[in-house]
Amino acid sequence: MKKLKNIKLYEGGISSIPGKKQVIKVSSNESPFGPSLRVQKAISTAKSKTHKYPDGNSLELKNALSKKTKLNINNIFVGNGSDEILGLACQLFLNKGDEVIIPKHSFLMFEIYSKISGGVVKRSSTKNLRFDVKSILNKITKKTKIIFIAQPNNPTGFYLSKEELRLLISRVPKKIFIIIDSAYAEYVTDKDYSNGINFAKKYKNIIVTRTFSKIYGLASLRLGWCYAHTDIIKLMNKVRGPFNVNQIAQLAGVEALKDKKYEKNAINHNKFWLKKMNSELSRLPVNVYDSRANFLLINVGKSVKKLNQYLLSKSIIVRLMDKYNLPDCIRLSIGKSTENRKVLKAMKEFYNAK
Ligand SMILES: Cc1ncc(COP(=O)(O)O)c(C=O)c1O
Repeated sequence: MKKLKNIKLYEGGISSIPGKKQVIKVSSNESPFGPSLRVQKAISTAKSKTHKYPDGNSLELKNALSKKTKLNINNIFVGNGSDEILGLACQLFLNKGDEVIIPKHSFLMFEIYSKISGGVVKRSSTKNLRFDVKSILNKITKKTKIIFIAQPNNPTGFYLSKEELRLLISRVPKKIFIIIDSAYAEYVTDKDYSNGINFAKKYKNIIVTRTFSKIYGLASLRLGWCYAHTDIIKLMNKVRGPFNVNQIAQLAGVEALKDKKYEKNAINHNKFWLKKMNSELSRLPVNVYDSRANFLLINVGKSVKKLNQYLLSKSIIVRLMDKYNLPDCIRLSIGKSTENRKVLKAMKEFYNAK
């Protein structure tokens, strides 16, 4: 039996508060919107067909992805959440003792999947919580097999600029895989941002993962995809389960991709509130990091526990950041307008600010 003692259990944020009927849950970087109406219709149609196995190749969805992104269908793999793909990549590339470089304060599943596959995690350092390309390069040894880059990163919302990414990719030996996790890509509209796919088109050692959990509001259906060289896609197809993505998710994904208006609204809502929350919270005695994703990381110093208790008393659930080694921080996602106003009000009340 595998000894998994050194692997911490992934614990998501809490989703309820005892005694509170209605809560504002801004702890899991979820979309504040329900799925689009098109998606809801597709789900209603699909629900009477659950006695049949899904299409094991997710062909219709891959076609829809290929059409929307102009990427070759043979470079696309669809998974049960991008989570599954991260795990499959570790399973494929890691042998016991192989090293994996993960920048400090990054998505927890990178470490968990690496360790399950026998990987040894090396942490590169950060500068003001931003990934440091030099430090990543310095961590490379003969044993390095994978480098994980969350682009933008959870929990900071920072990303490596195109130029930094280019530098990193050019310096990393081609036998090392760089997994660029672009779960929040759609929210970032800055010119110096790259979701990594253009690099993955050029270099065989790059895999870019994407998800329907965030912008499309399909977290519960578990749907993600990745772009990589056909050799890697072929290997992923060998190791995945035969029906890894359920049919409801596949059909919902197809419809989600078609609903451009829903996507645009979600991006605009996020952009507006991200800026507003950042600027209003920055007036409080806290340090707000300049995220580009659908959440904000906030260093609240020693008041973190008291603040959390206060927010819970107001039915607001945010994420504490101990597991990310940021014990003085909270992370909160952008909610609906009414929710964001309540979060702002509660935060101001806590700090006696106007
Ligand atoms: C950086 C990052 N990657 C991947 C995921 C998980 O995505 P999925 O729901 O597609 O498994 C998350 C979820 O919070 C995330 O923050």
